[in-house]
Amino acid sequence: MPLVDKFGRQITDVRVSVTDRCNFRCVYCRSANPENHMPSRDLLEWEEYERLVRLLIGMGIRKVRVTGGEPLVRPGIEDFIARVKALGAADVSMTTNAYLLAERCKRLAAAGMDRINISLDSLDRDKFERVTRTRTFDQVIAGIDAAQASRLRPVKVNAVLVRGLNDDEVEAFAAFARDRDLIMRFIEFMPLDADRVWTRDLVVPAAEVYQRIAARWPLVPVAHERSETARKYRFADGRGEIGLIASVTEPFCGACSRIRLTADGKLRTCLFSREDHDLKPFLRGGASDDELSEAIVSIVMNKEPGHRINQPDFVAPSRTMVSIGG
Ligand code: 5AD
Ligand code: SF4
Repeated sequence: MPLVDKFGRQITDVRVSVTDRCNFRCVYCRSANPENHMPSRDLLEWEEYERLVRLLIGMGIRKVRVTGGEPLVRPGIEDFIARVKALGAADVSMTTNAYLLAERCKRLAAAGMDRINISLDSLDRDKFERVTRTRTFDQVIAGIDAAQASRLRPVKVNAVLVRGLNDDEVEAFAAFARDRDLIMRFIEFMPLDADRVWTRDLVVPAAEVYQRIAARWPLVPVAHERSETARKYRFADGRGEIGLIASVTEPFCGACSRIRLTADGKLRTCLFSREDHDLKPFLRGGASDDELSEAIVSIVMNKEPGHRINQPDFVAPSRTMVSIGG
């Protein structure tokens, strides 16, 4: 029973959010105001995640990405990753803010994790602390160091660009990729922030990022899979790579291969879905594996064609990033 939607897109990639909690409060993600968390009885247990991942792998899922909130704040994540690997996932990765990574990296690598994506939105300590609303820059850099020293390299570093906030650092980020021989990915700001500050003017188009970097250092395209979100380039004259994720200005929904599982057991067929699908009644109501699989197949069949950020009647989704998972 392969997972295919009614547009013929095969789903091979699941993003699994293991918590909606986070030790940062990034301005483009969480609110400046206190937020409620999901009640703990609503959170999936590790065994429930494992059952879902096992069924999904049976339906053709190859990539499992663990997200949050911040996934490293939930105890037990290393064991979960080891079990997901044992279930046969070809590629297991994590998106993390890296605050806890320096101390955890060895165990994650030992658990069999294949890759890591680290968020870093400024190379300037003061600005970093304004963006994340925490004093954590040194720990994050130490986390990147640890990842680069581990078998998780090449490390991917993600920056969400917000006009007027960190768009002056495009060249500095590119230099960072070259100096450290890592993959620097520039992500367009999407309307998923809790305080609803997003406007189109705040989006820094990927085409602008490309031009600015290429003007300084010649870039060579790198082949990518059709469903990949990033357009990739390496530097003609040196180490490092950049990735441009143009979710807003050049949507890639037509080749999307992703679904998302939230920490409270909702299946989401798009970041921008207006509704999600609760799997807890199946998990906790005694449904058989077949019943659960059939439910997933029919939810995926109705995956929406794409986000509608660029349509005049766009309405922001029912959840914000911190409660969906990147
Ligand atoms: N727009 C784009 N990316 C976002 N992320 C969080 N909020 C947004 C947003 N509004 C990214 C983070 C991280 C991943 C979890 O999602 O930078 O890389
Ligand atoms: Fe936390 Fe990531 Fe959201 Fe920042 S972007 S507040 S690190 S979940």
